[in-house]
Amino acid sequence: MPAHLLSVDSLCRDDVDHLIRIAERMEPIAQRRKVTRVLEGAVLGNLFFEASTRTRISFNAAFCRLGGSVCDTTGFTFSSMAKGESLYDTSRVMGGYVDAIVMRHPEQGSVAEFAEATQVPVINGGDGPGEHPSQALLDVYTITKEFARLGKPLAGAHLLLTGDLKYGRTVHSLIKLLSLYEPLRITLVSPPGLEMPPHLVDLVASRGHRIETRPNLAESFDDVDVIYATRIQRERFTAEMSESFAELTSDFVVDRDFLDRRCSPTTLVMHPLPRDSRPGANDLSTDLNGDPRLAIFRQTDNGIPMRMAIFAHLLQVEDLIEKDLRDV
Ligand code: CP
Repeated sequence: MPAHLLSVDSLCRDDVDHLIRIAERMEPIAQRRKVTRVLEGAVLGNLFFEASTRTRISFNAAFCRLGGSVCDTTGFTFSSMAKGESLYDTSRVMGGYVDAIVMRHPEQGSVAEFAEATQVPVINGGDGPGEHPSQALLDVYTITKEFARLGKPLAGAHLLLTGDLKYGRTVHSLIKLLSLYEPLRITLVSPPGLEMPPHLVDLVASRGHRIETRPNLAESFDDVDVIYATRIQRERFTAEMSESFAELTSDFVVDRDFLDRRCSPTTLVMHPLPRDSRPGANDLSTDLNGDPRLAIFRQTDNGIPMRMAIFAHLLQVEDLIEKDLRDV
């Protein structure tokens, strides 16, 4: 695995399996049944120039669970980038202050540009519509755990990705990671204009997966094992697009009625979150709250052990953790 985690393109199947095995070992620490101080004295720079709840807080918590400390910057206003400082200078400076950096930025490619100027590991916490590699890793971790719980094989599974597949960075990273697995069936459903980028569809097909598109959710999906819904990323729309998408219908909403009528009783529902709860939003309905098929909060919980695994691996402490483990 490389020194940074900027894109899932840098990961092979062995890397993913290795990180999953480390995440499994992190579970007791993530749940505070065990304690380690293996990163004591280390400092994480958590630089978030775009809104976040899960990624920022869970990276922060993961670093603290390993015994480290965290410095947070949120928004451009409280960074000297507001005074015109470049990514290069910010990166050089931060590299002298901290031992690892997580960065989220609204521009695609910006986190990779930032990483070029620093010596410490940089993790892409989301770069505009580009990628979100740690989310994809925790998603794959969730899928493997849920399939093990249900006693289902992952090989040959049918996954339905729906919502904003054009601007949703989580699905860009996820579909590439899934393409490393044994042949899968992947169905894509998105509003017109928000389709998965063709180069990603071609990549998945070239690796031997069966990939199909459907215009909406108004048909039977009773052989689907996992629905991965995503939010329409309205913040990435131009003013013109906002107008044309103002009338988005409910054709893409995943709710209890859709699940009961069109899916199987064991179909899992995932979503990277946040789901949009504003009137007229069309992603994942709250009427599924409490339904065991809804895996979204098990998925968010899995963010901590997977992000601990990423830190342990990038900071080369994974082999020290077992020796350092203590009971609470
Ligand atoms: N899934 C995710 O990236 O959530 P946040 O935007 O809250 O970090």
